[in-house]
Amino acid sequence: MLKRLLAREAIRLVKSGMVVGLGSGTTAREFIKALAEAGVDDVLLVATSSDSEILAYEVGLGDRLRPMWAVDRIDLAVDGADEVTKDKVLLKGKGGALLREKIVDYAAEKFVVLIEEHKLVERIPSNNPVPVEVVPWAWRFVAREVEKRFGGVAKLRQDGGKLGPVVTDNGNYIIDWNPPGFIDPYLEDELKAIPGVVENGVFSKRRDATILVASSDGTIKTL
Ligand code: 5RP
Repeated sequence: MLKRLLAREAIRLVKSGMVVGLGSGTTAREFIKALAEAGVDDVLLVATSSDSEILAYEVGLGDRLRPMWAVDRIDLAVDGADEVTKDKVLLKGKGGALLREKIVDYAAEKFVVLIEEHKLVERIPSNNPVPVEVVPWAWRFVAREVEKRFGGVAKLRQDGGKLGPVVTDNGNYIIDWNPPGFIDPYLEDELKAIPGVVENGVFSKRRDATILVASSDGTIKTL
């Protein structure tokens, strides 16, 4: 399985004594499992979602976990992404963990992104909406404001199972914005400037990231 291959490749970057940021999503989950299998026991881990945190506990890494406020650095962050351009603009947040992911991924000395080839795109967004995490009380204002300023359609993300809005680990809602076309990376800051917006899924400021791309034949190339 390609995600597992990517995870194993990323494990080679983990060194003794590191503080490692754990991303979220199915690919990041493989990395967490691989980390447990590798038996690296002198690292500290910062999870970007309760999902990743729970998995880390389940695979025996619970005593390694620290909250973000308890560490003085992130040496390495390993995360997935929904879309990646050749110049390393990322779209993230399909799983709703974008706020803590951005904090950890942007803080990291080295940022590694694990993707399968089909996630490489010319420009974002190609196949997914742009997630915008918002203060719940302000969601309708933010949705209207996004549409007014930038066009397109902004919808509150609903949780089919619960028949209500998706609530993030930070107690916020998510608006999924379908812009009228591709967006420019500076929209990351423009979206954040709307009052009520907490964060968004455009990650344009880690062009120094290492992107590991798995092809269907099992080869891995580095961007
Ligand atoms: C979660 C994320 C994930 O990193 C992104 O959705 C990729 O997930 P997967 O590895 O399952 O495709 O941003 O909010």
